[in-house]
Amino acid sequence: MMKFKLRPWTLEDLDSLVRYADNFNIARNMSDIFPHPYTYEKGRAFIEIATKSDPPNILAIEVESETVGGIGVHPQHDIYRKNAEMGYWLAEPFWGKGIITEAIRLMVDYSFANLDIARIYARPFGHNIGSQRALEKAGFVLEAKLENTFYKNGKYQDELIYAIRRPAEAESQV
Ligand SMILES: CC(C)(COP(=O)(O)OP(=O)(O)OC[C@H]1O[C@@H](n2cnc3c(N)ncnc32)[C@H](O)[C@@H]1OP(=O)(O)O)[C@@H](O)C(=O)NCCC(=O)NCCS
Repeated sequence: MMKFKLRPWTLEDLDSLVRYADNFNIARNMSDIFPHPYTYEKGRAFIEIATKSDPPNILAIEVESETVGGIGVHPQHDIYRKNAEMGYWLAEPFWGKGIITEAIRLMVDYSFANLDIARIYARPFGHNIGSQRALEKAGFVLEAKLENTFYKNGKYQDELIYAIRRPAEAESQV
């Protein structure tokens, strides 16, 4: 696995963010909130949002002091509030090196330690085999497959729901 670290976003990430995120091969696998084309204006707006929460729930992925992706965990609301949705993307030159599998593992531990949630889920498109493999390798379980619920770029897509639950507390030694 290639070495990387997760850390908060800063405005200094803007150039790398736009360079790598402005890629149809990434955008086609994301929800429409992820812009295409990915402009400086969109990048600045994203970093503003990503630097707002404390503790941060959206982190940058850094390889050799370059920003090459992002991963976020988004707590939900109302009766869904013990759940959080995870999303992530990686710059295309870094695909297939095990980075996202490990980033998911780290983000799960970080989120259960810092957020009052019981379940983290992700919803890859049916065709996104790389994302599904990364989730499975990081311990997520396929909970549901919904047919043609997503509509992306003029086509219906299957929605796969993967999730991981907060581990039970270790038994007290007393
Ligand atoms: C999907 C994505 C996040 C995977 O990140 P990654 O760091 O390349 O994934 P990993 O290297 O950890 O790979 C995990 C597993 O999936 C496999 N895999 C990765 N891409 C694959 C692909 N396109 N097809 C088949 N298998 C793939 C890897 O081989 C690995 O399995 P292995 O260890 O058994 O060989 C990355 O390709 C990406 O950013 N894609 C565009 C955005 C996106 O899809 N975001 C997720 C939305 S749900």
